[in-house]
Amino acid sequence: MTKRIVFTGGSGKAGRHVVPYLVDKGHQVLNLDLVPLDHPRVNTLLTDVSDGSQVFNALSMHFGFDGLETGKGPAPVDAVVHFAAVPRLMMRPDNTTFLVNVASTYNVIEAAVKLGIRKIIIASSETTYGVCFAEGDKDFHQFPLEEDYDIDPMDSYGLSKVVNEKTARAFAMRSGADIYALRIGNVIEPHEYDRFPAFIADPPSRKRNAWSYIDARDLGQIVHLCVEKDGLGHQVFNAVNDTITANEPTAEFLKRWAPGTPHTRTIEGFEAPISNRKIREVLGFREEHDWRKYVSA
Ligand SMILES: NC(=O)c1ccc[n+]([C@@H]2O[C@H](COP(=O)([O-])OP(=O)(O)OC[C@H]3O[C@@H](n4cnc5c(N)ncnc54)[C@H](O)[C@@H]3O)[C@@H](O)[C@H]2O)c1
Repeated sequence: MTKRIVFTGGSGKAGRHVVPYLVDKGHQVLNLDLVPLDHPRVNTLLTDVSDGSQVFNALSMHFGFDGLETGKGPAPVDAVVHFAAVPRLMMRPDNTTFLVNVASTYNVIEAAVKLGIRKIIIASSETTYGVCFAEGDKDFHQFPLEEDYDIDPMDSYGLSKVVNEKTARAFAMRSGADIYALRIGNVIEPHEYDRFPAFIADPPSRKRNAWSYIDARDLGQIVHLCVEKDGLGHQVFNAVNDTITANEPTAEFLKRWAPGTPHTRTIEGFEAPISNRKIREVLGFREEHDWRKYVSA
């Protein structure tokens, strides 16, 4: 069934693949961003989501001029996908990274809930696992990284994502809405697979990403599955592809490159150290873009 989806940050690296995926599935999408998305069927409403009044307004508007034809005012929104953010450290001062990300997520979730929108999907991050933007060489507590991990980032970006997951939980409790947070791995666009031979050749270089990744198009599938799957309340999902970015089976690879980190269960075959078992079992995710299809390493 066609759904009306408001997507924030759709003009960015991940959004420009996820938005077309949703459109191809038959959904209507309105993009809220500071810059336009070049897509013939998606209007971008230039909106600063760190400003709550703009968010409230943008979530209750027509998606485009065709909305005027009904004469009934803007139709209800079925889902909000919130990707807009300062997407990493070193782009803005640390306090701005934290404040913009926390305020924007609060604004989007609060406005959506108060406007009666029952499905909200937010972009959390692999950085919540604490190693990506750590000072120095920090070890993970355990492998595989699953959603019940004691997340403990020390940086302002990762901390903003932890707070955002808590904001999602608070509003889900308050409202009964479905609010799903995606712990997105390192996003890989189709043209970026030429980076993989270097990843494979230099294992320490990928420790901060836990030797895991998400293809931007497979992220589209995950968001679509979240849009379609109702009734789960507050959820956190790792959003990564199935396998490790290495040529050695995961258990042996981790013993060699992360020898101090215990394993909490058997890690089979080439399973990614950030586990995507939950999205496979709960949402029915089936990856389409295994990196091995694009890399002959
Ligand atoms: N790229 C990754 O590897 C990665 C990994 C984990 C999580 N994430 C998260 O996924 C989301 C998307 O990441 P991305 O890589 O596409 O980032 P990006 O910077 O490429 O895209 C973010 C988009 O948000 C927009 N934006 C920023 N501030 C805004 C504001 N105040 N109001 C409206 N729009 C605003 C930007 O213009 C941009 O188009 C982010 O929340 C990011 O934190 C990304």
